[in-house]
Amino acid sequence: MREVRISLVGFGIVGHGVLEVVRRKRELLRNMGLDLRVVSVTDIKGTLFDGDGIDPSRLHGAKTLEGIANLGIIGKEAIQEIDSDLVVEVTPTNIVHGQPGLGHIEEALKLGKHVVTSNKGPLVVAFNHLQELAQDNGVMLKYEATVGGTMPLISLIEKNLVGNEILSIRGIFNGTCNYILTRMMEEKYTYSYALTEAQELGIAEADPAYDVDGIDTAGKVVILANSIFGMDAKYDDVSVTGIRDITPEALNLAWERGYLVKLIGEVPALTVKPMLVPRRSPLAVGGTLNVASIETDLSGTITVTGLGAGSIETASAIVSDVVSIYTSRQIDP
Ligand SMILES: NC(=O)c1ccc[n+]([C@@H]2O[C@H](COP(=O)([O-])OP(=O)(O)OC[C@H]3O[C@@H](n4cnc5c(N)ncnc54)[C@H](OP(=O)(O)O)[C@@H]3O)[C@@H](O)[C@H]2O)c1
Repeated sequence: MREVRISLVGFGIVGHGVLEVVRRKRELLRNMGLDLRVVSVTDIKGTLFDGDGIDPSRLHGAKTLEGIANLGIIGKEAIQEIDSDLVVEVTPTNIVHGQPGLGHIEEALKLGKHVVTSNKGPLVVAFNHLQELAQDNGVMLKYEATVGGTMPLISLIEKNLVGNEILSIRGIFNGTCNYILTRMMEEKYTYSYALTEAQELGIAEADPAYDVDGIDTAGKVVILANSIFGMDAKYDDVSVTGIRDITPEALNLAWERGYLVKLIGEVPALTVKPMLVPRRSPLAVGGTLNVASIETDLSGTITVTGLGAGSIETASAIVSDVVSIYTSRQIDP
C-alpha cells in the first residue's frame, strides 16, 4: 500500500469537495494500492494538521478553519512545514498576478512535492515556468480541473489521443455564460433578466464580469494553448469578446436559421467570442454544461461534454489527477 500525504491549501467549495471525495473513495483507492491521506488543510485562518489523515466529520460542516486550526501557519510556511508528498492548491483564481496560488505552487514544486490544482491563475501567468520547475525537481504538476471542471479534456488528449496531432480545440468553457445564453434562447429573457436569475441560483457571481466578459474562458484558452499546443501564450494574446451585448432578437434570428449563439473559446486561434453553432452540432449543449471538440489528424473530431463546476465534480478531476501521478510511469514518485 502506497501512502500519499496530501496538503490541501484552500478550504472553499472545491477544498471541501476534495476532503469529501477522498473520504468517500477511500476503500476504492485502497483497492488500487493507494492510501490517500489529507494530512493538512490550510486557509487564511490557519492550518488543521493530523498526520493520520483528517476525518471530514471533525470539521462539523465548518466553512472556515476559524476556531478549528491547530497550527498558526498559512501559505508557503504551511507548505514548507507540513511533511507531505503532494499539495492540492485550490485557492481563488487571479489571472493578473496568479497569487496566492502561484507562490504556493512554486514553493511546493521547489520542495519536491507534486502539485494538483484547479486554480487557473498561476497557470495563466506562468505555465511554462511552473512546468520547468516541476521537471527540474522531478515532480508533476497536474491541472485537469482548471479547464472544464470535471470534463476530461487534458488527460483525454495526453493519454488517449497520444500520437495524434491536435489541430484545434473549440468549446464552451464557462457554464455561467452557457446558462445565461440558454435561458435567453429558451425563455426569451433579456440578458439582464437571465443574469439576475443566474445570480439568484448561485450560478453567477454578484460581480459577473469575470464570466460574462469572457475573462474566465480566455484564461482556459491560455492554459490549453500552453499545455496542448506548446505555445507561450499570455492572457493579452487572446482576442476576447463577452456576451453582454447579445440580444434575444439576435438569438431568435440565429434560431430561425438553424443556429444557436454560444460563447466559444478556440485554440490555437486564441479567440473567445460569441459564435453561431448549428443546432444539431455536438457543441450545442445547454444549461451549465461545458463542451470541447478536439480536431485531430488521425482520429477526426472528438467531442466531450460535462459539468464545468461544482464541489464534488471538480474534486473528482483533482483526485483523478492525484491517482494518475501515482500510476504514471513517467516519473518515479
Ligand atoms: N467552484 C468550482 O466549481 C470550481 C471549478 C473549477 C475550478 N475552480 C477553481 O478552484 C479554485 C477554488 O475554487 P472555490 O470555488 O473552492 O473557491 P472558494 O470557495 O472561494 O475557496 C477558496 C478558498 O481559498 C482560501 N484562501 C484564500 N486565500 C488563501 C491563502 N492565501 N491561503 C490559503 N487559503 C486561502 C479561501 O479562504 P477565505 O474564504 O477565508 O478567503 C477559501 O477557503 C479557484 O481557483 C477556482 O477558480 C473552481
